[in-house]
Amino acid sequence: MTENTTPRLSEDRLINVPAGFPSTHYAVSQLFTEAASDRLAFWDNQARQLKWTTPWHTTLEWNRPFASWFSGGRLNASENCLDVHMASDTRNKLAVIWEGEGGAITRYTYAELHDEVARFASVLVNTFNIKPGDRVTIYLPLIPQAIVAMLACARVGAIHSVVFGGFSASSLIDRINDSQSRLVITADGGYRRGSVVGLKSIVDQAVECCDSISAVIVVRHTGHDVTMVSGRDFDYTELLHTTHDHYPPIPMSSEDPLFILYTSGTTGKPKGIIHTTGGYLTHAKYSTALVFDLKPVDIYWCTADVGWITGHTYVVYGPLSNGATIMLYEGAPDYPDKDRFWQIINRHKITILYTAPTAIRAFMKWGDHYPHRHDLSSLRLLGSVGEPINPEAWMWYFREIGRNQCPIVDTWWQTETGGIMITTLPGSEPMRPGYAGKALPGITIEILSDTGVRIQNGSGLLTITDPWPSMARGIWGDNERFISTYWSRFNSYFAGDGAATDPEQSIMVLGRVDDVLNVAGHRIGTMEIESALVDFNPIAEAAVVGITDDIKGQAIIAFTILKEGHPITPTLEAEVINWVATSIGAIAKPKRVIFTPDLPKTRSGKIMRRILKGLAEGSPIGDSTTLANPDIVEAIKDLLNKH
Ligand code: WTA
Repeated sequence: MTENTTPRLSEDRLINVPAGFPSTHYAVSQLFTEAASDRLAFWDNQARQLKWTTPWHTTLEWNRPFASWFSGGRLNASENCLDVHMASDTRNKLAVIWEGEGGAITRYTYAELHDEVARFASVLVNTFNIKPGDRVTIYLPLIPQAIVAMLACARVGAIHSVVFGGFSASSLIDRINDSQSRLVITADGGYRRGSVVGLKSIVDQAVECCDSISAVIVVRHTGHDVTMVSGRDFDYTELLHTTHDHYPPIPMSSEDPLFILYTSGTTGKPKGIIHTTGGYLTHAKYSTALVFDLKPVDIYWCTADVGWITGHTYVVYGPLSNGATIMLYEGAPDYPDKDRFWQIINRHKITILYTAPTAIRAFMKWGDHYPHRHDLSSLRLLGSVGEPINPEAWMWYFREIGRNQCPIVDTWWQTETGGIMITTLPGSEPMRPGYAGKALPGITIEILSDTGVRIQNGSGLLTITDPWPSMARGIWGDNERFISTYWSRFNSYFAGDGAATDPEQSIMVLGRVDDVLNVAGHRIGTMEIESALVDFNPIAEAAVVGITDDIKGQAIIAFTILKEGHPITPTLEAEVINWVATSIGAIAKPKRVIFTPDLPKTRSGKIMRRILKGLAEGSPIGDSTTLANPDIVEAIKDLLNKH
């Protein structure tokens, strides 16, 4: 375990709430007081903001580490995102503004989105016999049908498992087989920097290895030719045209799973994180309204893909349950030019922008002239998520994108927490670049030392003390792993991040302390990459480390030992990189592959990744006296220099 508990730098800059932003100080202090005086009553109040068909009888049943929130209650997530708006003016408000990479624009009002979701739900039940609790895999580009598919599953009580469109066939196979999905909803393809990514052909390869799949539904998006297997593959639009039936939302128990979302951990196998209906939706609705200070007129743009948790909570469930208008953009930020985001903001008059530090650092590098080409005055609030934002990037975002007029919410959370846990609520107090801020009202955070002692001023490990409504309820099919990963080190929930706190309880998140990398805001396990590497025939052994990268936060360096007698050909490095892209997905590609005769190991044979990381970063490697093969340090140094 590489402990990451040293602050990057001390940051004492305080940025006042911009003058034009209304103060929320009083309202926020009220919320903190309310939550502190009776936490469960506070969460009851938040849950009451949803529509329940049957009220709950017990707010929380806590059988550590398993929680039941709002037991006895019944509700439907799709009803709370759509049907609840049908009786008000929100019915005719825009729910989704979608812009394709090629420039096409499609708009859906809430009534239109409701119509398509309810009809697709009818197809799921009547044509495919999907029942509550069945799993459905969604493998789509960022198009409105991704939202339709998620909400249609939720409507009929099916558990969706969205797989990011950048994952390879073998990653898709693992996720389908682990969840035993019955259906895959995909598209012919998606666009990325002008070229087509053929999603359907990837699904064709995958379903060959997935016995649980009985049908594939295909959205025609790019229009290129795809193979349609008769009796197995169905055209989305044709299916939709078969019915005008509006399938009613099925009341689900509060604790029924709403979705599974796979995320990387410290072993080779991704974890299927389970979120349930009532608690998840309560926090999604509450935190979206509070953290983004959501107003009815806002045009809200969270740039995440629905394949990640940010896309689930802050593209779909949070904003739609609040009746907000959301922006969706399918493509890359630098297509056709590096000002695409700023063009979109100006064109659609975006008021709230929520994106990732890796994107902000890329924009910074591309230069100020790109945002300066466009009028960004519609923006009133900015957000950041996915990795620590360095103060320089924070200040650039504030100055160049926010024009010194928009508060920034730096939000810390995880797939497992379901929603935002830490931030500085906008308008409530001055902001400190580099500090995420305080726990949200209703959430209790403690920074602990290695031995579990609470740290009030200094650095340690980030934990969440009390159960919260949107907490993960488990890992699909693997409760033991759920317990050992999150609940065995301390009495509270251990997040896997290092953090520092000051006496006012403002928190600076320092990054992962386990073998999970964060590359461009995406979580990837070192073990996952290592097991892909050793599956490549020429490779005998592999160790992967993350090194600091100016844009992506971290970059992957792979050290590999080739099998006896295998030559290092000029193309071998590229072949290895491609292999990883095909085994996992492009997000897991190593930046460099080093072919070494040996790896630094302890006498018991454990690879010392800390030494590899130091060597690759050119930083001190620390104590190497416990190595069984100390000579390898100099040898690897030479290889790195030669590379
Ligand atoms: C990191 C994404 C610092 C952290 C929502 C966490 C952050 C992991 C921040 C979860 C932030 C997320 N500051 N680090 N504001 N937000 N992280 O599951 O290491 O994809 O554990 O969820 O991202 O990544 P995940």
